[in-house]
Amino acid sequence: MNIPENQPLKTFSDGKTIPQMGFGVCGIAPDATERAVLTAFETGYRHVDTATIYKNEKEVGSALKNSGLTREDVFVTGKLWNTDQGFETALEACEKSLELLDTDYLDLYLIHWAQPALGKYRQSWDALIELRERGLVKSIGVSNFTTEQIDSLKPSRVTPVVHQIELHPYLNQQIQRADNADRGILTEAWSPLGQGKDINDDAVAAIAAEHGITNAQVILAWHLAIDNIVIPKSVTAERIRANFEAPQVHLTVDNLMALGSRPQGERLGGDPAEGDLGAPEYSDRDSFRSAK
Ligand SMILES: NC(=O)c1ccc[n+]([C@@H]2O[C@H](COP(=O)([O-])OP(=O)(O)OC[C@H]3O[C@@H](n4cnc5c(N)ncnc54)[C@H](OP(=O)(O)O)[C@@H]3O)[C@@H](O)[C@H]2O)c1
Repeated sequence: MNIPENQPLKTFSDGKTIPQMGFGVCGIAPDATERAVLTAFETGYRHVDTATIYKNEKEVGSALKNSGLTREDVFVTGKLWNTDQGFETALEACEKSLELLDTDYLDLYLIHWAQPALGKYRQSWDALIELRERGLVKSIGVSNFTTEQIDSLKPSRVTPVVHQIELHPYLNQQIQRADNADRGILTEAWSPLGQGKDINDDAVAAIAAEHGITNAQVILAWHLAIDNIVIPKSVTAERIRANFEAPQVHLTVDNLMALGSRPQGERLGGDPAEGDLGAPEYSDRDSFRSAK
């Protein structure tokens, strides 16, 4: 990848690299996606996190095409949706995503949810291995798995390079992060800002005031300091730009300890252990949430 030198990179167990700071597009309406992604590229982001279920892959593809960047300049993550799980269906779903994104390959392809009730995630994992062998995806990983579900992939002899999980100061996932690290799997934080809900927390605001930065920058700098890959989403140009400055923030040990000990709250999304939370009828996040 041709990533500007000032960007922090993390290295996967397969030797490939990923920009630690990415841009998430979940919940961005298709007609707002190209603009938001172009703003991210203009700002300097070189990593986009999308998924079939976000229904904006085509627009992410348009942004890639119209950005003036080459395909090798950008790291693109896609995700296999629940209803596409299975061997042949996963192969087809990935090919469809490539077509929508108008690209020959994905840098990273994840199983979006384990969905144990479906009982197909091992077959899906075999499909991801096949996709990697065919060169259609460079690296493969999982999202929203339990440690036991990850361990059940062992017969394939291929370890996910990434585990993408809900992770923010109010759900700090200490145990899952440690389990991932023990297995050589990088942790990627979804909803890294807690969807903006607790961003005005007093402890975060105090650290922001101490450094003269925004609350979101504090939270993102915490993630980066504890080695999480982050993919904050925003449709607001000013926020997209400000969030990207987080790697320049140096928090103190006291700051990190304060952020790492915030009161832990409820999950914003589903629990991988419970399984069947991304049911097909919940095709967007609002209905997904209200159904919880
Ligand atoms: N694997 C999974 O199951 C899964 C699940 C959920 C999300 N994800 C991925 O993770 C990405 C990020 O998660 P997310 O979108 O749920 O939540 P998030 O990034 O934690 O938060 C996004 C929210 O925070 C606001 N925001 C962003 N920057 C801000 C700032 N500087 N100050 C104040 N508010 C700010 C945004 O508002 P505006 O947009 O209005 O500016 C938006 O409402 C997604 O886009 C997706 O790529 C993956």
